[in-house]
Amino acid sequence: MSDKKYDFGLVGLGVMGRNFILNVADNGFTAFGLDLSTEQVEALKTEGGDISKVDATTSTEEFVANLSTPRKIMLLVPAGKPVDIVIDSLLPFIEEGDLIIDGGNSFYTDTDRREAYLNEKGVHFLGVGVSGGAKGARRGPSIMPGGSEPSYKYIKPIFDAVAAKATDGKPCVAYLGPKSAGNYVKMVHNGIEYGMMQLTSEIYDLLRKSAKFTNDELHQIFAKWNEGRLQSFLVEITSEIFLQEDDLAPGRIVDVILDKAKQKGTGKWTSQNAMDLGIPVPTIDIAVSMREISALKEERIEADKLYGRQEVDSIEKETLVEWAEQALYFSFITAYAQGLSQLSDASKEYGYNLDLGLISQIWRAGCIIRAGLLEDITIAFNNNKDLANLLLAPTFVDRVQEAVPAVREVVAFAAKNGIPVPGLSNSLTYFDAYTSSQLPLNLIQAQRDHFGSHTYERTDREGIFHTEWGA
Ligand code: 6PG
Repeated sequence: MSDKKYDFGLVGLGVMGRNFILNVADNGFTAFGLDLSTEQVEALKTEGGDISKVDATTSTEEFVANLSTPRKIMLLVPAGKPVDIVIDSLLPFIEEGDLIIDGGNSFYTDTDRREAYLNEKGVHFLGVGVSGGAKGARRGPSIMPGGSEPSYKYIKPIFDAVAAKATDGKPCVAYLGPKSAGNYVKMVHNGIEYGMMQLTSEIYDLLRKSAKFTNDELHQIFAKWNEGRLQSFLVEITSEIFLQEDDLAPGRIVDVILDKAKQKGTGKWTSQNAMDLGIPVPTIDIAVSMREISALKEERIEADKLYGRQEVDSIEKETLVEWAEQALYFSFITAYAQGLSQLSDASKEYGYNLDLGLISQIWRAGCIIRAGLLEDITIAFNNNKDLANLLLAPTFVDRVQEAVPAVREVVAFAAKNGIPVPGLSNSLTYFDAYTSSQLPLNLIQAQRDHFGSHTYERTDREGIFHTEWGA
């Protein structure tokens, strides 16, 4: 250990933490790590090489003593209790004016609670969303910071340096808003991530079940899409997945992976909170439900035997691929539209003062939902800061309208042939409902008033009305 103090401290030297701290060191800052596991500490020291740039310890006291003041300490530990435990273990050693940053997928109300708790002790606190997985942490993640702006100034130079850079060179990090704004934005990012993953998997299902595309062909289709308007991280990795050989048996790994998707909760939180705030995000909702249905593997097998599966109609491969591209493009747009509209409404509810143009801008690189489309989404929100929904942006109207007929074909074909595409159909229904000036909910109001005197409003005059039904 040298006598010199380090610029940045990181607690939690798992894969994400180790990669993040090495990224900080690569960008000209010195960094010190803390982990209770000697193995993790040694792994970092080995990878870090020069201990005058990166060093680590298992002792909290030594860790804190090695950081220059005001200390900048980031936690990359599992969300929930571990965050509180680490914070409390640091408190006896840190000083007023130091900064603690939680970089995990913490629930936003936990962040509000922790900020109040630490501010009372004179310690700064930021809740920061970090996206991009292990590779992102190492080579440049998208970072979504929230908290007090004066606190953010301490860490801004480091975050600007380590964040992914978009094609225009801008770092994919920006101060987003007070309190839990950063964690909230990251939660909705993950909701959109769930939606886009579900949509991609439905397109895969449709292509393999109807036109019997091989994994090699699927690789080519997704790789080609990734060179066009569907260019995105998820389409790119999907194309790579189809090529990956199984290292335990002959064949491709994708064909032997069990079709039960796990989840850590961020997608579910997005849906739950959208319900609480009365914001429709049906593509995200169904993506969560599909992970739950996928978990019922044994029941699904039994039901499959009971009901059987029909033969899927044959379809011309080229036509199907063309429709599928349009459907994926359309539904990616509606997934972003739903997530961003949730951010817009939540911002008003929680006083986050979010700038949706800025959020779209920092999602352009580094994060899981990065996509070429975000360039245009950024422009749309920068052109109109009050845009209530992406579907109302003039630059999106033509392209959405052009894709809709193919989406209808895809959804109709899938429904007729028993291929579940709930993400695609929910996206289409969201669009159809959102663009309908007349919905049948007048009947629901009538029913509510009929059985419960719940009253209704009228289209032709102001006021609240009740009818004596059947009188
Ligand atoms: C990211 C991801 C990441 C998330 C995983 C797993 O932005 O890097 O969102 O934060 O933890 O994607 O999420 P699930 O286990 O819930 O699928």
